[in-house]
This record gives sequence, structure tokens and C-alpha cells, in this order.
Amino acid sequence: MRLTADQIRGAIAEIAAGFNRDRNSLIPLMQRTQESFGYLPTVAMEEIAVYVEVAPVDVWGVATFYDQFRLLPPGKYPVRVCMGTACHLAGGKLCVQALERELGIKVGNITKDGNFSLERVACIGCCTLAPVITIGDNIYPRMSPFKIEEALIPYRQEIEKGQASQE
Ligand code: FES
Repeated sequence: MRLTADQIRGAIAEIAAGFNRDRNSLIPLMQRTQESFGYLPTVAMEEIAVYVEVAPVDVWGVATFYDQFRLLPPGKYPVRVCMGTACHLAGGKLCVQALERELGIKVGNITKDGNFSLERVACIGCCTLAPVITIGDNIYPRMSPFKIEEALIPYRQEIEKGQASQE
């Protein structure tokens, strides 16, 4: 269910009540907001700016600077590519490019049908398995551009099943 701007404002007021009204609260408040919504809605960022008394453009700057923040709601199956040092060196960027081709979207976006979103994330803590991607809650170790299509198959099958059952 999509929340209205007023509902988001109400939720932010509740979340923000646990934080001091200063700049040091900015990132923790953004993190907490993202935990709640799965991403950072624009209205939420505006409310956060007012609460911690910074310009909205500063919140936007932080949100776009750090890979951990998402500006769009995640797809049904969020695809995340680790871009921590180990994964980056092991070919994470090639995985991003292969996923962009395969899903037909650029990183930071969501497919038109809402099924897949694609984002880069910081180290997810399994560096010995680099490069790593995750799809939904599943971890895919030692990925390469050649394994991307195969990794997506079960999700595409689920999507097809869902569509067939609606017909
Ligand atoms: S750098 Fe990718 S899991 Fe640590």
C-alpha cells in the first residue's frame, strides 16, 4: 500500500521523536527512516531536513553520496551488488553492468513491472566469497557476468507463475 504524504509526515514525526534536533542526528535518522519505509521518500527527506535544521539539499546530498541509501522503493526482488573493496576488486562492476543489461535498467532504478530493483551496496560481510550479489534474501557468491542470467531464472519463474495464476 502506498502511503500518502501526510502519512509519511506522521511516521517521520514519530521516528524523529527519538532523535536530537541537530545535524548529528541526520544520518541515524535517515537510516531509521529507510528501515521503516525500505527507502527514503522525498517527503521524508524534507521532513528530516526541517527536524535536524539543515537544508533539504544537504539531506539529498547525503542520500546520494552513500550507497546505503535508496531513493526509490525496492522492487519485489531487490538485486544488490556489493561494491565493497574485495567485491569491487573481484569484478563487482562487471556484475553491475551485466545486471543492467539483463534487467534493462540502470543501477538505482526499478523495472517497469516493479519486480526487480538494482542497487550498489557497501560490504555485506562475506568478502571471502567476492564478488557477491544478493537477490531478495539470497546471497550469490563468486558471481560473474556469465552467471547473472542463471541467477535470475528462479525469480522470473516465480513472476511467471504469479502472472499465470492471475489469468
Ligand atoms: S566487500 Fe563484498 S562482501 Fe565484503
